[in-house]
Amino acid sequence: MSAMRVIVKIVFIFTALAYFIPHAHADSEDQKAFTLAKQNACLGCHALDRKIVGPSFQSVAQKYKSNPNAQAFLKNKIAKGGAGSWGVVPMPANSKLNEADLSLLVSWILRGTPSQN
Ligand code: HEC
Repeated sequence: MSAMRVIVKIVFIFTALAYFIPHAHADSEDQKAFTLAKQNACLGCHALDRKIVGPSFQSVAQKYKSNPNAQAFLKNKIAKGGAGSWGVVPMPANSKLNEADLSLLVSWILRGTPSQN
């Protein structure tokens, strides 16, 4: 095999790895977040794409897309609950969720809730 072909193969393999590793990671994070949202009854009040009691997760992603404090703000809001961002109806506190769960949920919501099945 010529040196050139070896180089081409190596470049190809690294490009493929660079593509698939982060995607595989994101997919399982999406899956975990969706399971958490189901287990914690988030989906009783929130749909992914339409308002129920609370705003759709997709409109939350839209509203905070250029807000650099969104991650911290929303983690705290989900944990403590409250009203005022979308109207007068409050979200109850979700005090059972730990830091890691809150991060997983907020990142997934801000990504636009991919892979919900
Ligand atoms: C009993 C209904 C209810 C449940 C259960 C609920 N929410 Fe909410 N949620 C709301 C309402 C109502 C709002 C709007 C609050 C506001 O206007 O500030 C809201 C707002 C939000 C927001 C946007 C907050 C903001 O200030 O913009 C996020 C993110 C969110 N909820 C995530 C979740 C997650 C994740 C769960 C599950 C752990 C959950 N919610 C469970 C009713 C609910």
